[in-house]
Amino acid sequence: MRKKRVSLTQHLIEAHRTSHNIPEALRLLLEVVGRACKTIGSAVGKGALGDILGSTQTENIQGEVQKKLDILSNQILLESNEWGGYLGAMASEEMETIHPISNDYPKGKYLLLFDPLDGSTNIDVNVSIGTIFSVLHAPETGQTPSESDFMQPGSKQVAAGYALYGPQTLLVLTTGNGVNCFTLDREMGSWVLTQPNLMIPEDTSEYAINSSNYRFWHPPVQRYIREMQEGATGLLGKNFNMRWVGSMVTDMHRILNRGGIFMYPADTRNPSQAGRIRLLYEANPMAFIVEQAGGAATDGHNRLMDIQPKRLHQRVPVFLGSKNEVARITRYHSEP
Ligand code: F6P
Repeated sequence: MRKKRVSLTQHLIEAHRTSHNIPEALRLLLEVVGRACKTIGSAVGKGALGDILGSTQTENIQGEVQKKLDILSNQILLESNEWGGYLGAMASEEMETIHPISNDYPKGKYLLLFDPLDGSTNIDVNVSIGTIFSVLHAPETGQTPSESDFMQPGSKQVAAGYALYGPQTLLVLTTGNGVNCFTLDREMGSWVLTQPNLMIPEDTSEYAINSSNYRFWHPPVQRYIREMQEGATGLLGKNFNMRWVGSMVTDMHRILNRGGIFMYPADTRNPSQAGRIRLLYEANPMAFIVEQAGGAATDGHNRLMDIQPKRLHQRVPVFLGSKNEVARITRYHSEP
């Protein structure tokens, strides 16, 4: 017998019926983002055959060399979302300033932020990468949004999600009513609900951090990692495992499924930069997803989603994942 399949569209319509939090414009936005991610996923899958590997000669605002796929993914997201009438403006890791919707199209009531291709150092070596996105309300005045309109804490997000381009292509989405995971049926070209209501286990014995930076970390983080490395004979009395893919989307997807904690702390290398992860289009959407899945997300002191952003490309230290481990590392930051 044919198994009943729920598509992204059906899921969004039914969720709106029961919780009334996905108006039509938001549904269109999420469907178009989902479609753009299919296009990016298809380009990723072509690899060398699609001439998408390698770097351009340009750097983005973060001073990182842009990969061909960074630029292509950014273009795909911009072009797909420009005309729909549901956006006021967009912002991206790959663009210095915001991208207001052109006057050729009607303006809408949402703002879209994205990291078009997360984990781009993994592109050329065929390791999973992703797209992260966040949706905010645009100002109600009907005026063209400015950068200051994007300076909203994560708690104001209307929706957030990521696409993961791995052995399977996945879309993980929250609109503030739990977290759902869709798998791309590559033959049919449709997103099919495969994991409703993802929940992160509260406890974990797995952590993710780039431990080559150990010597640069601040004492609370060094203590936290040291205790876990001491294993069963140490203070914590159990062994821990470490995993670090180097694509936040991929590491977070593992954590969402089997628990764990993802850390990118601030360190002593560049005191003017708080770690590596960008607040508005990486940390906040992931924090929204994690909290909706029963986990926690802090910068070591405060809830990530309570931070008032000051700059579009602001960085923030992040500790996200299983609730009890995030609580422990956050506590260490306040202990002498
Ligand atoms: O955007 C930042 C990012 O690429 C994340 O996706 C990833 O987790 C991290 O940087 C990798 O950092 P590192 O190069 O220190 O391993």
